[in-house]
Amino acid sequence: MENRKPFIAGNWKMFKTCSEAVNTAGQLVKLVKHANDIDVMIAPPFTALVPVSDVVKGSCVSLGAQNLFWEDEGAYTGEISSAMLVSAGCKYVIIGHSERRQYFGETDETVNKKIGSAIKDDLIPIFCVGESEKERESKATFSVLDKQVKRGIEGFSTDDLEALVIAYEPVWAIGTGKTATSSQAQEVHQFLRSMLDKILGNMLAKSIRILYGGSVKPSNIKELMTMPDVDGALVGGASLSAETFSKLVHYQV
Ligand code: 13P
Repeated sequence: MENRKPFIAGNWKMFKTCSEAVNTAGQLVKLVKHANDIDVMIAPPFTALVPVSDVVKGSCVSLGAQNLFWEDEGAYTGEISSAMLVSAGCKYVIIGHSERRQYFGETDETVNKKIGSAIKDDLIPIFCVGESEKERESKATFSVLDKQVKRGIEGFSTDDLEALVIAYEPVWAIGTGKTATSSQAQEVHQFLRSMLDKILGNMLAKSIRILYGGSVKPSNIKELMTMPDVDGALVGGASLSAETFSKLVHYQV
């Protein structure tokens, strides 16, 4: 893993009311307070960001959002800007999740604009890419990822992308219980890192963290984390319980 700091991130998706989110975050802060040399993030729904930010303040748990809109402000009913997320206490933002691509019309172009907005406001983008089952079966995995990555980061400088985090989430492994095997994950992560090397140079390719996402749980995290190019996990279902998520954070013990 070279010198990349492991990163365990929880995507709570559309789960938890404010009080449920505050409770889970409070339990998590206690359970992971001795975690060292690892970055931890939770991304609750928008409504819970502010109350959860109070709970995690001063702890090793950082706050992330699940989406943003790229304009600073304006008549865009229902949307949230990156500056608003920063003011709510966010350090990270998940961009281009496959559920947003699948159900909400997210494209590589909108993902690119959103990454730009996050960078401008010093939010760290967790940029999601991944192939569908059909694409994997037709051996299109690498070409799909090549396009998603190139279009997503198009137009940014190496300085802009210094803090970028990439999440490889094969769509067929999300919420299905079907995890990619550690060697399948490694094969793709290695491919992504070699792409980064070509586009952004060796320094950034070595420092950008690539997380795996898709049915990560306490029983498979250790094996995934032994892979040289897997730097962490973006976790859905197993992040909703503080106890289960804390086991992922403590995967080394
Ligand atoms: P699951 O861990 O529930 O498969 O979800 C993965 C995911 O989509 C995280 O962003």
